[in-house]
Order: sequence, then structure tokens, then C-alpha cells
Amino acid sequence: MTALHAAITGWGEALPPAILTNEDLSTFLDTSDEWITQRTGMKERRVSHVSAVEMATVAAARAIACAGLTPADVDLIVYGGCTNEEAVPNSASGVQVALGATRAAAMDVNTACTSFLYGLSTATAMIRTGMARTAVVIGVELITQYMDWTNRNVAVLFGDGAAAVVVQASDRAEGLIGSVLGCDAEARQSLRVRGLGCSYANKAVSLGDTIWDFDGQVIFKRAVHGMAAASARVLAEAGVTADQVDLVVPHQANLRIIEAVARSAGIGMDRVMVTVHRYGNMSAATVPVSLVDALKEGRVKPGSLLLMPGFGGGLTYGAVLVRWGDRVTPLGESSMTLPPCDRTALELVHEIRARQDPHGRSAAGLMAPVFAESRVPHQG
Ligand code: UT7
Repeated sequence: MTALHAAITGWGEALPPAILTNEDLSTFLDTSDEWITQRTGMKERRVSHVSAVEMATVAAARAIACAGLTPADVDLIVYGGCTNEEAVPNSASGVQVALGATRAAAMDVNTACTSFLYGLSTATAMIRTGMARTAVVIGVELITQYMDWTNRNVAVLFGDGAAAVVVQASDRAEGLIGSVLGCDAEARQSLRVRGLGCSYANKAVSLGDTIWDFDGQVIFKRAVHGMAAASARVLAEAGVTADQVDLVVPHQANLRIIEAVARSAGIGMDRVMVTVHRYGNMSAATVPVSLVDALKEGRVKPGSLLLMPGFGGGLTYGAVLVRWGDRVTPLGESSMTLPPCDRTALELVHEIRARQDPHGRSAAGLMAPVFAESRVPHQG
């Protein structure tokens, strides 16, 4: 039986506790709180002490409990992100086994920072066509492990985190009501992490090296254009005006990008959710974490219309429009938590740096798994 709609009924996040401040970064990079704040709006970001799959599992468990469901109810897991631990097996299968969601199909979606938006669109389409009924869509990233900590152009920008939503078949007109996805591939060379991927095996740049090609100004301009154009199109196609949008929950790469996109849409910053100051750019995790924070802060109301534009490597872009349902409070809580962290963020970063040579390359050339085996997260 096909469903007309796919409602978002659960949400949860998993943020590592270790906080890396701008001052921390300036202890080992030629940078300053003033530069980072003025150019990006960022103040802090998180550094994970656990694997991406562990963060994703905790976020998913919280989203499932929030929806009043159990892992056995889930028939699809979509794992969105680009910092996967392994290519084979995929990361979604790691979440499936850690959750005990044995009925669930498990797929990874990698469109870099837009992976959550692409994943949410994919899960919604699968539910509407009857291929799935209850999906968990995750946005997760463990960028600090793949960061070139010698390169101030990128090292100050990113952080780790995860969040997830549950999407369920519904007869009510809620959930995704519009989705525009695209790819500005002509400029795909402007954002590349050399060393992540099979083509680097046995080459001068080895698998596991983390040398970033990052043309910030090109990405900036194309991000503003891509997010603004996708936002305008998704609104027009849904037949709604910018005035009707209650809250914009954008990708958080730079406060100046967010302001430019809001300006282009004619939406005041009072209707924009900003989290870039507290988490930096968590790539695929930024939109869902910002959504969960907006719910916690009471900024999503029953029936709210949400616009979520995003942009990332590829250069992929997109904007989705979500009509929220009646419920803005969780039905239940999961006992799953991240394990405690006994190190500061700066200590965690220095551990990663110790594994890299002065050019950001991993000491062993081939990066050994950082977290030997993804553990089942703590039951609190
Ligand atoms: O989520 C994926 C998508 N990513 C993005 O959308 C990122 C888009 N790009 C940006 O957000 C901005 O381009 C950046 C924040 C990356 C850079 O800001 P910018 O205003 O474009 O600065 P810039 O690259 O033009 O650099 C200006 C100056 C340069 O020095 P000179 O050549 O003027 O002497 C840089 O070397 O700032 C210097 N600089 C820094 N200084 C202190 C670059 N990074 C730093 C730093 N600290 N961390």
C-alpha cells in the first residue's frame, strides 16, 4: 500500500561533549578568535572521542524513542555523511546492528554536507512509493579525524556531530512537501579531500592522507547561489511565498553565507535558525542538529513551515520544504548515550595530529581504523 505523505515523527541528536574553542585553535595554528568570528561566525565546535557510527546510533536511538517506536519498527536506515569509517561494509549496517534494527534495509548516502537533505528526500520518496514505511534518516560526520590540522584554511571550520529523524508513512499532509536537489559539478575540484577513497590506494597520496583542496571563495559564491536558487525554486514549486516560511534551518558553513541566502529569499534573520557559533560546520549533521535544537528551543510549532537549504562537496546543493505535524514534544526517551570523555578537545586534536606528519598525512600512510570496532553505545 502506498502512502501519500511521509511525516517526521521523531528526532534526536548526539553531540560529543569535548568543545574546541577558537582560542584552542590559536594555540597551534596561526589564527585568532577575531578572524574566525568575523569571517565565519564560529566560536566553538565539537571533537568526537567515539566513532561516527556510535554517534549515529545514539542519535537514531533517540529519534526512534522520540517517535514512540522501537528499533524493530524501522524498515529503512539512511546514513548520510562523507566521513565513513569504511567503504565496505557500509556505515548504515553498523547502525543497524548496534540498534538491533534487524528488519531494516541499510544504505549510505554521500553527498557531503547535503547528505541529510538527499537522504530525507530519498526516504520520503521510498515511503511514498510503498518501498518503506518507517525510516530513520541520519546526518553524521566525524571530520576531525580526517582534518589536515596543519591547514588553517580548513581546520578552523569543521566539527563533529550527528542527528537523526524518523520518517513515517502518513495520510496527513505533512513531512516533505517539496524538494529541489542539484549538483554544480563544474566546480567539483574546489572541494576535495585527497586521501579519502579507493583511488588513492598505492598512490603518492595514500589512502588515509588528509590533504584538503579547498577554494573557500569559489565555494562561498557557489554556496550562496546554489542555496538561494534552490530555495526560490522549492518555494515556487510548492506554491508558497517566503512570508509563509516560519523558520529557515540552513546548512551552517558560514554565518555570512546564511545571511546572504536569507537576504536573497527576503526572510529576516529572526526566522533563521543559527547554530554555526556553537558547532561550526558539521557537514551532513548541521541541518538535522539545527532542526533538533530548534525543536528543543520551541522554535518549531505545530504546523510550522520549514525551509532547509544546503550545500556541500560535489558541489551538491538542495532545499527542502517541510510541513511540521502536530507534535513538537517527544513521546519517549532512549537510555542510549555516548560514553563519557576523559580528554579535552585539544588533547583529542593533539592525538590526531600525532598520527599525522607535518603535511597532514597519516603517519602510516594507510590509516588504521581509529576506533577498532564500533561499540554498542552506553545504555545510561
Ligand atoms: O560546507 C561546505 C561548504 N563550505 C563552505 O561553504 C565554505 C565557504 N567559504 C568560506 O566560508 C570562506 O571563504 C572562508 C571562511 C573559508 C574564508 O573566508 P574568506 O573571507 O573567503 O577569506 P580568504 O580565503 O579570502 O582569506 C583571507 C585572508 C588570507 O590572507 P591574505 O592572503 O589576505 O594575507 C588568508 O590566508 O585570511 C587568511 N586566512 C586566515 N587568517 C587567520 C585564511 N584562514 C585563516 C585563519 N586564520 N583560519
